[in-house]
Amino acid sequence: MTAAQAPDPPIGQQRGQASIPRHIAIIMDGNGRWAAKRGLSRVAGHRAGAEAVRTALQSAADHGVEVLTLYAFSSENWRRSAEEIADLTALMRFYLERELKTIEKEGVRLRLIGDYAAFGPDLAGQLERAVERTKANTRLTLVVALNYGSQTEIAAAARRLATDAAAGTVDPATIDEAAIGARLETADLPPLDLLIRTSGEVRLSNFLLWQAAYSELLFLDTLWPDFDDRAFADALEQYASRQRRFGGR
Ligand code: IPE
Ligand code: IPE
Ligand code: MG
Repeated sequence: MTAAQAPDPPIGQQRGQASIPRHIAIIMDGNGRWAAKRGLSRVAGHRAGAEAVRTALQSAADHGVEVLTLYAFSSENWRRSAEEIADLTALMRFYLERELKTIEKEGVRLRLIGDYAAFGPDLAGQLERAVERTKANTRLTLVVALNYGSQTEIAAAARRLATDAAAGTVDPATIDEAAIGARLETADLPPLDLLIRTSGEVRLSNFLLWQAAYSELLFLDTLWPDFDDRAFADALEQYASRQRRFGGR
C-alpha cells in the first residue's frame, strides 16, 4: 500500500491531536425511563441522575478532560409539570450544597450557561456563590446548562451584533463566524470535541447547535443514571478511534 492510499491514523495518533477530547458535552437523558423501569417516581430517577453526575465529573477529571458541559435543564423543560420542576429545583439546591466542598477540593471550576435566574433568587444566588468560590480552579471546568436553549443563545448574539452595528461600533460587512462565536455564552471555552446523548434518542434538543458544527456525536442507549465510569471510558475509546477530518480528506 502506498503512502497515498494509507488510511488516516486514528485520532490519537494524529499530529497535534490528543486522543482525549478537551471538551465533552452530555445531554443527560433518560432519568424518567430509568425510574419507570423500576416502578419509581420521576424524581427518584432525577436523584439517580444526580449521582451519575458526580461519577461523570470524577471520570472527566481523572481522564484529563478540560471542560465537561452538562445539559441539566433546557429552555423547553418548563413544559413539564410544576411538581417535576419544583423537584428538579430542590434537587439542584441539595446537590450543590452537598457537593460544593468536593468540587472545590477537586479543583473544579463551575461555569453556567443559560438563563438560570429563572429558577428564582435562592438557587440563582447559590449558583453564583459557587461560581465565585471556584473561579480560580484549573483542573476541570464544569459547565452546567440551566434553562439553556441554543437558538435563544444564537438570537442573543445576533441581537448584540445588531445593536453594535446600529451604534456604529461594528461594521456589518465584517460579521463572520468568529464574531458570532465570540458573542455566545461559550466564547471562552475550547471547541466542543465530543457530544454525547444518552437514552437512545437521536436528536440535539436545542443544545449547542452552533458549537457542535464539527463535534463527534455519540448517541448511546444507556439511560443517564446507568452512565458509569466504564461508560465514560467506552465513550473516550470510541472518540479516540474516530478520524476527524474537518472537511479535509
Ligand atoms: C433527563 O431525563 C433530565 C432532564 C431533562 C431534566 P428525562 O427526565 O428527560 O428522562 P426521560 O427522557 O423522561 O426518560
Ligand atoms: C434534553 O432532554 C434536555 C436535558 C437533558 C436537560 P429532554 O428529555 O428534555 O429532550 P426531548 O424532550 O426528549 O427532546
Ligand atoms: Mg428526556
